[in-house]
Amino acid sequence: MTTISREELSTLVDHEKGLVSRRIYADPEIYRLELEHVFARCWLYLGHESQLPGPGDYINVFMGEQPVFVVRNRQNRINAFFNGCPQCGSSVCRADAGNTASFRCIYHDRAYDLDGQVSAAPGLPPVAQVASYKGLIFGTFDSDAPSLDDYLGDMRWGLDLLLEQGDMVAVPGVVRWQMDANWKFAADNAIGDMYHGNITHRSAKLAGHGAGRGIDINTPEGRRAALQGLGRPGFTVVTEYGHGFNADYLRDDFDPDAPAAYWRKDPEVQKRMGPLRNRVARANENVFPNLFVNSGSRELMLRNPLGPAKMEIWKTTLVDRNAPPEAVRAQLGNSNRHFGPAGMFEMDDGENWDQSTDGTRGVVARRSDLNYTMGLGYGVIVDDELGPPRVEVAYNEHAQLWMYRCWAEFMAAPSWRHLREHHSRPLPGMVI
Ligand code: FES
Ligand SMILES: [Fe+2]
Repeated sequence: MTTISREELSTLVDHEKGLVSRRIYADPEIYRLELEHVFARCWLYLGHESQLPGPGDYINVFMGEQPVFVVRNRQNRINAFFNGCPQCGSSVCRADAGNTASFRCIYHDRAYDLDGQVSAAPGLPPVAQVASYKGLIFGTFDSDAPSLDDYLGDMRWGLDLLLEQGDMVAVPGVVRWQMDANWKFAADNAIGDMYHGNITHRSAKLAGHGAGRGIDINTPEGRRAALQGLGRPGFTVVTEYGHGFNADYLRDDFDPDAPAAYWRKDPEVQKRMGPLRNRVARANENVFPNLFVNSGSRELMLRNPLGPAKMEIWKTTLVDRNAPPEAVRAQLGNSNRHFGPAGMFEMDDGENWDQSTDGTRGVVARRSDLNYTMGLGYGVIVDDELGPPRVEVAYNEHAQLWMYRCWAEFMAAPSWRHLREHHSRPLPGMVI
């Protein structure tokens, strides 16, 4: 039984004033409710179809704190199950990934087939709905959740910035690491925080990360050019159910002959992308609640909660099956230096999220709200045939505040039935 009423939950985010209570990052009761109202309700990312190419292929993953595994059955259908035997609860799938004819529980030797069934006993509890969007597999524990297509809505247009670059497949292996930070600080950074790069990632830029060909960072001009990438025009998209992204346009000095830009010359890709997406250099995206997608570096980062002040990040890099070898080499080198435990940007961001989380611990600190007012009241949502409803400015806090606004709606809603009727929609002409 919760001690926090629905009314109180809906006051934790004041989207009209741009204020977010520090309690949402630190309060154990709010965290417990979050596992129920957000993570047991939303569609959550599970993996990429290319990680399970054939019948019997499986991967172990988490949905919130809940261990589940995903498996392709003999009919090529992808299902997901709780990784807990209904007999005495032991896990039935222990390896990170592999191929099997059945899942054998080593406690009392029950063996489950690829559909989670065992003869003469209850089968494994399935994840209520599993579906894919262009290779990305998602699951939800809630059978009342809308279809994945409806849940993603206009966010699909943003995901296509990455997924339509080619025949995308996952690089083998998932990189996992933990951080002492609340998962929402990472989601907030992913969805709309373009402006932190100017200072947070300045040292990585000055070290030459992502500087591009022909830029010598040992010269004053080179250093200026390296830093120029931080702070350029673009747009912000917010969608139903808390997703969103910030995209910035290609710079004037964009080098179309750089190895990693090969796909931009493909007329088929250009057609699929359309005029607005063809102008986008990269987008930082967040599929609510916890999947960060970077269309430029082709990295997917799932931030699984492990308590109010801890998360485990799972990183998968996508590559184009048909990319030239030098483009793959350039991309993977960039990916390793960018995010992940050895990534310069990851270290920069992680230190900030760690500090932000620490800043929510004190009882006195929690009395003062966090301020998300950059651009508040100036974000006019435009809608045209070029893309989804959007604000035509990249540097603002609209998407972060939108995510918290939607988070509060999930937290206060009694059910999906209620949420479907009472959730924020970015309508043309709306000011955020
Ligand atoms: S816990 Fe699995 S067979 Fe007993
Ligand atoms: Fe960052």
